[in-house]
Amino acid sequence: MEPRLDRPKEAIDRLFEAAVAARAHAYAPYSRFAVGAAIRTASGAVFAGANIENAAYPVGLCAEAAAIAAMVVAGEREIAEILILAEGGEPIMPCGACRQRLFEFATPETMIHSAGPAGVALSLTLAELLPHAFGRQSLAP
Ligand code: THU
Repeated sequence: MEPRLDRPKEAIDRLFEAAVAARAHAYAPYSRFAVGAAIRTASGAVFAGANIENAAYPVGLCAEAAAIAAMVVAGEREIAEILILAEGGEPIMPCGACRQRLFEFATPETMIHSAGPAGVALSLTLAELLPHAFGRQSLAP
């Protein structure tokens, strides 16, 4: 699938650079798979995160979760777009749990950009990654 980059290149470049910088600090001694993520919020601010693993494997944190935590702690809650960066054979896609985490602070139209060292390889909406999602609208009033 072709990248859907209807955003100005500078906006994507800023996210890419933030994800590269965050990925450099990834703590991934077990998988050796370093991931960086960068969120642009509705205000235009950028928040980045990297994966942080743990000897107790399931306790490890994904890069997306770290970026969301940085965003929320800074007082922001609206993800306008997110770029995820890794070096692998296939474009990196958020795990199922992170798709759900993103859904809490994004919309079905929010773009998820998957990047490798050469730049964005694939861009999808959150609805494409997590259709028929469970969210606050699903809870009883
Ligand atoms: N990982 C992320 O940080 N984000 C993703 O979207 C997929 C996977 C991390 C979790 C773990 O530290 C490593 O990549 C290997 O699964």
